[in-house]
Amino acid sequence: MTAASRVIAVTGGASGIGFAFSEALARAGHQVVIADLRGAAEAAQRLQAQGLKAIGTQTDVVKPADVAGMVEQAVKAFGRLDVLVNNAGLFTTLALKPFDQISDAEWMRVMEVNTLGPFVCAKAVVPEMRKNGFGRIVNIASTTPIKGTPNMLHYVASKGAVIAFTRSLARELGKDDITVNAIAPGFTLSDGVLDNDLHSKMGDVVRKTSRSLQRDQVPEDLVGALVFLVSDGAGFITGQTIAVDGGSVFI
Ligand SMILES: NC(=O)c1ccc[n+]([C@@H]2O[C@H](COP(=O)([O-])OP(=O)(O)OC[C@H]3O[C@@H](n4cnc5c(N)ncnc54)[C@H](O)[C@@H]3O)[C@@H](O)[C@H]2O)c1
Repeated sequence: MTAASRVIAVTGGASGIGFAFSEALARAGHQVVIADLRGAAEAAQRLQAQGLKAIGTQTDVVKPADVAGMVEQAVKAFGRLDVLVNNAGLFTTLALKPFDQISDAEWMRVMEVNTLGPFVCAKAVVPEMRKNGFGRIVNIASTTPIKGTPNMLHYVASKGAVIAFTRSLARELGKDDITVNAIAPGFTLSDGVLDNDLHSKMGDVVRKTSRSLQRDQVPEDLVGALVFLVSDGAGFITGQTIAVDGGSVFI
């Protein structure tokens, strides 16, 4: 049996972990819609240059009109939209600080991008998935809410919300044959992390103190779980959070 080729939107897919996801999915034979605030068209061109199927669309995940445009572009280019990967998030640009130094405005902004964004995107894609009788949503969470990582309380709370969102939405969409799962990465050396000294130093601590597999985690370590979750064989898995972190937490 040949594996189905899916049309997959990856938010925040132009750089870091998101670009690794976009590239791996396209290499696995899928058609990828890269939706990002910046660099989407260029990222799609990098994949097209390898003979892969991808388009880019400038999208702010908290703006419903932008997200509606992402769905329209997918349908225009590839005829439908099968899979949403909610990867866009605020993390690598955040300063690490004690909770009482986080302003209310910063808290709200992190919640906006990391929780409202996946909600806006899910609302936009589900009608298309229901129409086609197939759908997969994969949310990129984090292991930080399992660990209770200090000094980024807004971020940790937002990713805890993503895990809760995954479970409840899976219950609501099961009747439509749409699965909803999450991947919880450990600390990963994405482009943004490598650009931020404090975040990079945190990686050393994580690796030395908590990981079973004691090496740095890179974006490519995450792609296998995603390719699996969108595959035909994963159709009866929903509501789950898969930790991909070198065996740091056990969920
Ligand atoms: N790097 C890590 O250690 C790590 C660990 C656990 C989870 N994560 C999660 O993985 C995802 C990717 O992380 P990363 O390290 O590659 O981050 P990054 O900061 O390097 O990249 C995030 C991408 O999202 C895009 N983006 C930001 N706001 C957006 C918006 N409003 N609309 C559309 N796109 C937007 C950015 O332009 C960028 O391309 C995030 O959800 C992050 O929270 C990362």
